[in-house]
Parts: sequence; structure tokens; C-alpha cells
Amino acid sequence: MAMHRLTSVCIGVPNVAETATYYEEFGLTRLAGHWFATVDGGEQLRLVPSPRRRLVELGIGVDDPDDLHSMASRLGTLGVEVKQTPDAVTATDPGTGVRVVLGVAAPLDPHPAPVIAQNGPGRPDRGTARAEPIDRTGPVRPRKLGHVVLGSVDVEASEKFFIQGIGFKVSDRVPGAASFLRCSADHHNLLVQAAPIPFLHHTSWQVDDVDEIGRGATALLNKDPARHVWGLGRHHIGSNFFWYLKDPAGNFSEYYADMDCIVDDQLWEPGVWTDMRALYSWGPPVPESFLAPDDLAELMVATHNP
Ligand SMILES: [Fe+2]
Repeated sequence: MAMHRLTSVCIGVPNVAETATYYEEFGLTRLAGHWFATVDGGEQLRLVPSPRRRLVELGIGVDDPDDLHSMASRLGTLGVEVKQTPDAVTATDPGTGVRVVLGVAAPLDPHPAPVIAQNGPGRPDRGTARAEPIDRTGPVRPRKLGHVVLGSVDVEASEKFFIQGIGFKVSDRVPGAASFLRCSADHHNLLVQAAPIPFLHHTSWQVDDVDEIGRGATALLNKDPARHVWGLGRHHIGSNFFWYLKDPAGNFSEYYADMDCIVDDQLWEPGVWTDMRALYSWGPPVPESFLAPDDLAELMVATHNP
């Protein structure tokens, strides 16, 4: 695949300082210029001032400059305006309004997370020892930005842009509602879902395992229980454990672990899902405010009266 990962997101918020504190508490490392870094992905989040919350820019890493030429040419064929420099291609998705910057980037080379021994019936694999996760005390540190979920006013146009234009692959579909798209071996790096306005639903950040999800969410909720959105649970599509929390601007941020990987495209059959089972295998009932964020009406007014 010419692409290999999401490189970064730039999120516009009305309250940069407050939101910056949140992402620092979420476990990202704060850098100059309201940039934030993950352990494996480096600089992956930037906050900028904006009258309403929104995803301003999505960065995608490609292997080499030849990939940029073919992407620019395919986007041009779709009638999308493209800006090209020797090391980047920039274009805006008509459905989500998000500026996408494709650039040559080094692939991630994460050090593997340790395999933690777990006891099971007839299988005391840990021997005579307490579980390792219960002694973890340091802050949770997300490994990388895994995926982004966007509301699109024209899913068909967004899918053309990301699939035919840029080259994302389809992992699973919920007809009429959403497509799970990948630009790496992760089950999804991008989800575009039908919405009355373009908006950022959530960004998702990989942690080592389900214990790190629990520890991260617990630390954030100890500071402010109102940050809770939905979790702990396990998604059906993508299989990942999840816990969603809300930043002070209203964007959801997800800790995730154990997502499906598609290491051989030939062995993966994209599914078509039509019921709520697609959303989760287990967990608390999905709150209405997850499906339609509380500030959606406010965002609609702001979008139509900028
Ligand atoms: Fe997610």
C-alpha cells in the first residue's frame, strides 16, 4: 500500500488552553506550538483556535514521491482541486470539509508491547505471582493516533475522495451510514459517517492493552467524571476494546487496544453490517450522546451562520 499511516491531525477548538490541558492529561506529550506527541508516532496532534470545534487537517504518510503523483492525478480525475509540491499533495474532501495533506513519511517502527501472562481455567500461566498490570503506576502513554471518525454531509463524495482518489481500502461497511477505511494494516484508520453537518466525531489513540485503557480512563474521570462518554466495551467491527471520553471542546477521544489487523488483503472479506451488533459486542448500552453528540444542534447553527 502506498500509504502506511495517519501522521497527524490538526483540531480547531474555541478553547485551546483548556483543551491542551486535557490532551496532556490524556497522556500525550505536550510540545511547543500546541503540538502533542505519542510514543511511537511522534508529533500527531496540533490544536489551533477556531470559532467552533472541527477537524482542520488530516495528515497521511506515503512511501515515496511517486505515490504522491498518482494520488494527485486520481484526485484531479475526480474534479478535486489539488495543490502539489515536491513532497506533499493537499486536497479538501467535499463531504467533510477536511483538508488532507499527503506527504512522504517514515513508517512506524514500534517496539512490541510485552506479552502479559494471564491465568485461565487449567492454565495458571502466571505462576505464583500477582498480575503485572495491577502494579502499573506511571501515566498512560498512547502509542499512536489510530483512527479518525468524521461526519460527512455527502458520504458518497467523501468515499470517492478517500477510496478512489487517495486509495483507502474498505474493511467493513454499514450501508447508508458508514464505511470503515484503512490506509495501513489496522482494521480502520478512517470512518466517514453520514451527518447533517461536517464534524469531528472522535480521534482514537492506541494503548498497549485493555488495562491501559482502564487506567487512562480512570485517571481522566478522577479529575472530571463529566468527561465520560462510553466504555468500557469491545467493538464488534474492528474488535477493539474502547473507552470514549470528551475533551473540553466537545470532541470525543478514544483509548483503544487489540484492534483487528489486516496483514493480508486477500484473506479479509469486507463485511456488510446492518444492526447494532456491528457497533459493539459488549459494554454499557450505547448512549444517545455518542450517536449524536450533545452539541450537534449548536454546531449546525454555527456552521450555517459562520
Ligand atoms: Fe473509534
